[in-house]
Amino acid sequence: MKQIKTAIFGTGFMGRVHLEAVRRVESVEAAAIWGRSADAARRLGTGFSVPTVTTDYREILRDPAVDAVHICTPNAQHFPMAKDALNAGKHVLCEKPLATSLEEGEELVALAAKQGLRNCVCHNLRYYPMVQQMRSMREAGDLGDILVVQGTYSQDWLLYDTDWNWRVETKAGGPSRCMADIGSHWFDMAEHVTGLRVQSLCADLQTFHPTRKQPKHSVETFANKLLGPEDYIETPVDTEDFGAVIFRMGTRARGCVTASQVSAGRKNRLSIEIYGTRSSVAWDQERPDELWSGHRDDGNQIFIKDPSLLKPAARGFADLPGGHSEGYDDTFKQVFRRFYASIGASSGTPEYPQFTDGLRQLRILDAEMRSHRTRGWVDVPAPERIK
Ligand SMILES: NC(=O)c1ccc[n+]([C@@H]2O[C@H](COP(=O)([O-])OP(=O)(O)OC[C@H]3O[C@@H](n4cnc5c(N)ncnc54)[C@H](O)[C@@H]3O)[C@@H](O)[C@H]2O)c1
Repeated sequence: MKQIKTAIFGTGFMGRVHLEAVRRVESVEAAAIWGRSADAARRLGTGFSVPTVTTDYREILRDPAVDAVHICTPNAQHFPMAKDALNAGKHVLCEKPLATSLEEGEELVALAAKQGLRNCVCHNLRYYPMVQQMRSMREAGDLGDILVVQGTYSQDWLLYDTDWNWRVETKAGGPSRCMADIGSHWFDMAEHVTGLRVQSLCADLQTFHPTRKQPKHSVETFANKLLGPEDYIETPVDTEDFGAVIFRMGTRARGCVTASQVSAGRKNRLSIEIYGTRSSVAWDQERPDELWSGHRDDGNQIFIKDPSLLKPAARGFADLPGGHSEGYDDTFKQVFRRFYASIGASSGTPEYPQFTDGLRQLRILDAEMRSHRTRGWVDVPAPERIK
């Protein structure tokens, strides 16, 4: 079987996670790394024996041996990098959000279709085995008709005004922070699991810190050290720390969600609860192998992940036997495995989130921003494709 050669753009949190996950997929070889910093790229490349490391990503795009690229850079770079990669004939796996505006997202969807190249946006959180189990239960009718969908995506890493990251700045992260960064994962999961689409919403966003202390030097420099006034610049912030959204799904269901990066003690709590006319399910990313199932006339249950007990469609997302936990890292493997299987496959609908799904999240995000500005309900345009 031909070895597929791939490249990773970005050497931060996601660059490393993608590189490690790529190495768990059969027939794929990490051939090149692009980094903004030559040192960071070299360190990662040497550690993982990746033959090419460069600070010029176009050098990688000119290499005919490279088949695909992973874009793991700040959000504002997704559009130019994905566009250049598609124009160079590479398959593209892009981190979320797909882009920082609707127009960019639309252009990427059209370009990927025109070039006939595989395209994926990394809404990997769909692929926890218990999330797939919720989807399979809904498909089997176990939940009945869905009435209520609710939840949160809460973190605490930007609680203090001394917390700083490129996401805070519109020019690197785009006009939305919390809703684009984590709210988009929640809505992708809600639509994927329920099969319903958000039709209209009302959003309220809040920036608790109108200014933040931006370190003059790299953030690592300040690890374990309180910033003194000589170390930072008081920088105005217009991206949101928090958002609350109420929404209508399909014709009947109603829902609400909060997303927060300032909730002390909540590290990465994506929780989703789905209440149907027959039963309910609830899942929390911080306890990924457990699924709560609620009943009106019977005892509630906690399912523990065990492939032999999962619905058949969900079983394909669990590689390890019961009692052996599968977590965040494994969701990337599940996405990448399906993405690479589709390269070279001549037919079949790809079984992973594509650029159209990324554009879908940009439409929801755009509606949230408009709703917040106008202080009212707004409609969300119908999706390009139901998946
Ligand atoms: N799917 C997920 O679960 C998930 C999780 C975290 C991040 N992400 C996405 O991955 C992408 C990268 O996020 P990350 O957490 O890896 O970021 P990071 O800060 O850890 O890494 C960013 C990388 O881009 C480079 N870079 C280029 N221009 C930069 C700039 N102006 N400022 C800072 N770094 C710059 C950095 O050197 C680094 O290599 C983002 O789009 C983010 O939304 C997805």
